[in-house]
Amino acid sequence: MMDLSFEAIHDVIHPTAAFSQGSGDGDGGRSSTSSYAGSKDCGDDDEHHNSIDDDAGWTQSQLNPKNRIDSLAPMSQPLWRIDGSAGFGTQFYAYPLFLDGPPPMHIDVFVHEGASYPAVVRELLDLDVSFHTKDAGRVRRLGIAQHILRILHWHTTKEDGSLRQGVVKNLYNNGPFGSRIVIDNLSCHIHESRIAISPNYPLENDLISYQELIRMWGLVDDESLPPEVSIDRVHLVRQLHDSISEVYVDNDVGDQPGEPERTIVVLKSLTSGVKYMYQEIRALLKDIPRHEYILSKPLHIVTKQCLFGRKRGVIGFTMPFLKAGSLRDALPLLRVHGRLHRADQLRWARQITEAMCHVWHEGHSFYPDLRLDNVVLTAPAPEGDAGLVDFEQRGVWSSFSAPEVDYVENVRLVAFDDQDFDFAIPEDVCREFKKKLVLCYDAAMTEKTDASTTPAVQSGNSKLKTPSKRPLILRLEEEVKYSNPALSYNVSWSCLTKTEQEAAMVYMLGRLMWCIFEGMSAPHHGAIWQSYSREPELEFPTFQHSCPEQKALVLRCFGDAGAKEQSRFVRWKSKLYMKQGVKANSSTSPSPMYELVSDDLVGKARLYWKEQLDEGEAWLQHRNEQLHMAAVSHDASCGEGSTKMVDGIDPSTASKTNEVSAHGRPTLNQVLKWVKELESQV
Ligand SMILES: Nc1ncnc2c1ncn2[C@@H]1O[C@H](COP(=O)(O)OP(=O)(O)O)[C@@H](O)[C@H]1O
Ligand SMILES: [Mg+2]
Repeated sequence: MMDLSFEAIHDVIHPTAAFSQGSGDGDGGRSSTSSYAGSKDCGDDDEHHNSIDDDAGWTQSQLNPKNRIDSLAPMSQPLWRIDGSAGFGTQFYAYPLFLDGPPPMHIDVFVHEGASYPAVVRELLDLDVSFHTKDAGRVRRLGIAQHILRILHWHTTKEDGSLRQGVVKNLYNNGPFGSRIVIDNLSCHIHESRIAISPNYPLENDLISYQELIRMWGLVDDESLPPEVSIDRVHLVRQLHDSISEVYVDNDVGDQPGEPERTIVVLKSLTSGVKYMYQEIRALLKDIPRHEYILSKPLHIVTKQCLFGRKRGVIGFTMPFLKAGSLRDALPLLRVHGRLHRADQLRWARQITEAMCHVWHEGHSFYPDLRLDNVVLTAPAPEGDAGLVDFEQRGVWSSFSAPEVDYVENVRLVAFDDQDFDFAIPEDVCREFKKKLVLCYDAAMTEKTDASTTPAVQSGNSKLKTPSKRPLILRLEEEVKYSNPALSYNVSWSCLTKTEQEAAMVYMLGRLMWCIFEGMSAPHHGAIWQSYSREPELEFPTFQHSCPEQKALVLRCFGDAGAKEQSRFVRWKSKLYMKQGVKANSSTSPSPMYELVSDDLVGKARLYWKEQLDEGEAWLQHRNEQLHMAAVSHDASCGEGSTKMVDGIDPSTASKTNEVSAHGRPTLNQVLKWVKELESQV
């Protein structure tokens, strides 16, 4: 059976698997990621290894799970608290309880990935489970969380410890934003663990001041913009997600002494890929006009004095805290309790569709992140309204998008394979795929749009910093420091024409409505990346709870080719499997039929991904040719008729209304009309 690991992602789950050089013996999880070292570390200690074979020693051994209660029991007076985790079990949000409301510096604790430790350590510390567990409640129950708390405690309390209260306070008040506390060796013996503090100077270097951003975006600096607030006037309450924390801001109390008011708000801040967050702030302040169902409304722009360069860099923005949480958690609960009613389902479907239409038509932008996590409620369900958050445009996980977006995304993942990994694919393969990506982008650029539909952002400050012969689409991916590009940093979506972008949004909307109508938290259970406390019982696109009209509406969003099977790889408990015998488009059978296999996953994945890449290549080649041909015929008949390339339109759907996007899918406006019709009939 195969463990979850970074190498498994590379050699099985991502399309890079087509070029993997793994042995194919099914053990892709450990061979080359061995960052685990040190003779005294857990499990690597001869004495411990011997004791496992020796019955008497084993009963005494600290590695014996029976003895773990002693070392992993919750502490009675902890100095730290774990608020959740990210980075596949390598990053933990640790809150220093001895600081009262410290600034939200995003100083997290890092450990090496679980796959680099021996099986017995992984088991004792629940490292396999920590790969896919993120929320505070479940993370805190893991051995690793308790172990980290004890390690932090030890280094905070011991004389000369690297995390003494004064040291930590100084790090929170003066250290670079997003610095790391690295536990270098995850030793069973807490006092043997080594801690290194790694200051994040590169991130501060990439931060840009609010004034500079305002200037770049061509905005007028007046009171319509959210005020700037310094990070030392913001106080962390708890980390909620990787980029989201609950905070309060000292209110200006003028000369009045007394306690500062505590209105809890949410802070969004990133410790990597800060360019995406700046694009998000631009989207919310400039590109997308305010809308009832767009719920990220910036209240403050939070800045920090950088250690170098005398600038105050923007580290994030605050917005109202929507306590009711996301539809993802609400839907399955409502269904289980028989409280998921058609009127509410259609209301939420309409609200999200309205938000999508607004982003598209008024914001001249697109929304590639449509998942239930990003649909948040204004009040507890079922009363609350639904709206969108998250405007970074990073896109969703591999195999989560519309099929044609996946085709491009697969090319991108191979093209930009991280060459720092031991298991990276050959560089010439990457180069070849970069060329393919450029061809996709060039083809999309041939689409002629009328002046009226040209997005506003296209006319903005569109230059990336250094003029270069390197194709724009490749520079967008590689760029680290934000440069206010006209295009999105989402390279795969930037390779689509406007028409195709709308069609991809419609596909994602269809799948979101499937979740709402079926009452499921996600389209599939066993997502590799994250486990949920309530995993969906039903697999997309099987229908069980939707009424015929809801089902018809969802199916129309998928267009001619219908819904496509998503990833062939699943997580069962904490191991990786491949589904075999999946019936594609099995919308008629009550549940998809497949079995889970685990032998030779690397070999199987290599074949599977080769086929997928070939299929995508053929599809993209045809699509690129069609776009070039359409451009030529447009030039020939300049000025008359429709200018849009609509690949694969079903003429019967298109009929007189012309409400089609691409691939036989309707437009967003058309979907909105249908949803409203259904809503009015309830
Ligand atoms: N204002 C908010 N109030 C409450 N929860 C929020 C708010 N904004 C975001 N969230 C929750 O936090 C999660 C992560 O935020 P998001 O903006 O999507 O960040 P990311 O880009 O890391 O996905 C969202 O999926 C949502 O459930
Ligand atoms: Mg999100």
